[in-house]
Amino acid sequence: MNIRPRRLRRTPVVRSLVREHAVRVEALVMPMFVAARASDAGPISSMPGISRLTLEQAVAEARELFSLGLRSVLLFGIPDRKDAVASSNYDPNGIVQRAIAAIKQAIPEMYVIADLCNCEYTDHGHCGIVDERGEIDNDETVELLVRTAITYAQAGADVVAPSDMMDGRVEALRSSLDAHGFDGVAIMAYSAKYASAFYGPFREAAGSAPQFGDRRSYQMDPPNAREAMREIALDIEEGADVVMIKPALAYLDVVRMARDAFDVPIAVYNVSGEFSMLMAAIERGWLERDRSIDELLVSFVRAGADIIITYFAKEYARRASS
Ligand code: PBG
Repeated sequence: MNIRPRRLRRTPVVRSLVREHAVRVEALVMPMFVAARASDAGPISSMPGISRLTLEQAVAEARELFSLGLRSVLLFGIPDRKDAVASSNYDPNGIVQRAIAAIKQAIPEMYVIADLCNCEYTDHGHCGIVDERGEIDNDETVELLVRTAITYAQAGADVVAPSDMMDGRVEALRSSLDAHGFDGVAIMAYSAKYASAFYGPFREAAGSAPQFGDRRSYQMDPPNAREAMREIALDIEEGADVVMIKPALAYLDVVRMARDAFDVPIAVYNVSGEFSMLMAAIERGWLERDRSIDELLVSFVRAGADIIITYFAKEYARRASS
């Protein structure tokens, strides 16, 4: 036997001939932070190259992303007021609602995904309504999410992406969207969202750190994988069009398990902390920029993800289009 796997690695041409996976620019989703107040716009110190944008800047940015070949954005709002019940979230004239409408008007083909959660809009920073015992009330929170989702749909969102981890929210969202005539609005559920330390920079970006306690009573416990399959199965049953695993890098085993078990499209969220740790090493000259980013992104595809939400989307698309 003379089996020599190196034969197919000899030249760039043969390597590319046998290459198994590739990152498609159209499968990348760029997150965007849109601020209601101009004074809240500006660079995010823990996320080099990423900024909070004003509404006008967000539209300009979306145009640029589109010209680079990107087709989807994920919107987060930085509201100008917060209260206990996240009322700035379901305001039809809220920052996300205005951003959705403005981007869809400027670039109708851009697929606009609205993150759906309360933590940026509550003064206590939790993703839901806090009851008298200091616990998060599941069903009241779901009612709020539904109310907000309808306003996102009215503004023209293509997708709502609930990231709160309340039970039963996908079913409630689906039936209410349908009842309001929004049967074409998709649901991308953050199905397996872990209580992760890797959201740290995002909480600086969105000003959404919990003011007391943590999110462990609603987000998943990092050591669990079987539980993720159960969460995903429930969300699919409830009507989710796309399911998500988040974070990405430390959970690629979960992505693979999900890919093998389910046939719906799977998204991964390459979260802020994963972006920041790579950028920190790149800035110090400890890692090679393009190669380390490419290797990271293709690992998500290899694990089985169809859709990749990543702060590297713009940079990757720019490189792919040049
Ligand atoms: C809102 C939300 C968070 C992220 C996405 N949606 C923060 C959190 O749950 O604390 C994290 C995104 C990132 O870290 O890039 N609930």
